[in-house]
Amino acid sequence: MRVFNTKKELKTLLNTVYTKNCTVGMVPTMGALHVGHVSLVNRAIKENNLVVVSIFVNPTQFNNSDDLKKYPKTFKEDIALLKELSEDILVYAPSVNEIYPDTVEPNNYDFDGLDEVMEGEFREDHFNGVGTVVEELLQTVLPQKAYFGEKDFQQLQIIKKLVAIKHLPIDIIGCPIVREASGLAMSSRNERLSKELRNEAAFIYKTLLEVKKKFSKNSINSLIKWAEKEFDGQSKLTLEYLQIASEDTLRPAFRKQKDKKYRAFVAVYADGIRLIDNIALN
Ligand code: PAF
Repeated sequence: MRVFNTKKELKTLLNTVYTKNCTVGMVPTMGALHVGHVSLVNRAIKENNLVVVSIFVNPTQFNNSDDLKKYPKTFKEDIALLKELSEDILVYAPSVNEIYPDTVEPNNYDFDGLDEVMEGEFREDHFNGVGTVVEELLQTVLPQKAYFGEKDFQQLQIIKKLVAIKHLPIDIIGCPIVREASGLAMSSRNERLSKELRNEAAFIYKTLLEVKKKFSKNSINSLIKWAEKEFDGQSKLTLEYLQIASEDTLRPAFRKQKDKKYRAFVAVYADGIRLIDNIALN
């Protein structure tokens, strides 16, 4: 296992790899690795000759400084976990200065409206921050494939758009959500939940499953109203949004169209900790 802190060192090593015709897979992360990340890394190991995992808590994608401050940092444990998966993984763990040598500001992208709804509506500039760091990381590593979890489905669609507008020849691969036994979607933020709240938060997935069950027989509007009412009855969870949108545009859907794929998306606060989840409906 080798850890690189600078772009220059990592690129020097990667240049020797490219000349050997090796395929490179990348898993960008913000650390605090959990079973969800393990599934991404294992898939990358299976499908590539070499895997690069980046660990970088990206300041420009946090619209809330308290969330950034409290974001779990577990570098030692992360390295130990990755070592268990494979000794051959390359870890890229740059400093803020390495990624943002001039100013710690995001670029401005035109994601064709994908960034204007849901997370984009409630977290100003979040996706410009994600785009900035992912573009930088992908340009540095130039993998053939990069792996992202479907828990952040909106992020996944935006990263696909990013590589299209930047003409990066990289396959962006979405991987299924990994859940705790209770159904709660795996997230680094779960670590900040008390045991009691972690149990309560299982309600999020239970409600999504109900929405899926009811989807074929109910209108979108009535389903959203039903789900919002369910959350109203939860004293420990505060719903920020629950939306049903088509997978391609991510725009809120009002009427179902036969040939479209829909998902329900949700963001919830549990004791100030923001949790998101989503489910495919058809
Ligand atoms: O999903 C994440 O962990 C982050 O948003 C990412 C893609 C690593 C960019 O910082």
